[in-house]
Amino acid sequence: MKLMVINGPNLSRLDIRDSSIYGDLDYAELKSMITIAATKHGFEADVRQSDDEATIIGWLHEAADNKLPVIINPAAFTHYSYAIRDAAELVKSPLIEVHLSNPLSREEFRHTSVISGVANGTIGGFGPNSYVLAIIAMANLLSN
Ligand code: DQA
Repeated sequence: MKLMVINGPNLSRLDIRDSSIYGDLDYAELKSMITIAATKHGFEADVRQSDDEATIIGWLHEAADNKLPVIINPAAFTHYSYAIRDAAELVKSPLIEVHLSNPLSREEFRHTSVISGVANGTIGGFGPNSYVLAIIAMANLLSN
């Protein structure tokens, strides 16, 4: 089964972001880890990244039209993009929000997610393993 994995702004630059917060993997390594974990759990992952809100909205429309399950790390858009929230709401297949860090243990502006309310669930704080846990949760959701 196909799985769309969407990564938001600045996640392509994990190589120069704070590794004590985001871990040691660069984006290419993260992408490969996601692809391998997805394959292990029966998914063909289409892993994408964009810094552009409109592009991410277009991908969510594509997932909605094609009834694809979605794992999304909206990055900073998590905290304020009502447009991404509304697009995520159009996805009727399961949608899981992930974060490398635990936003609730960080600055106050990260404590709000406008996406969580339209996600099946949120996983954060486990570094790259957040994606692996989300893939396992997705496999469970789809087998029920
Ligand atoms: C993030 C957390 C966000 O607050 C931040 O803006 C990011 C990454 C995470 O994966 O921990 O860019 O979504």
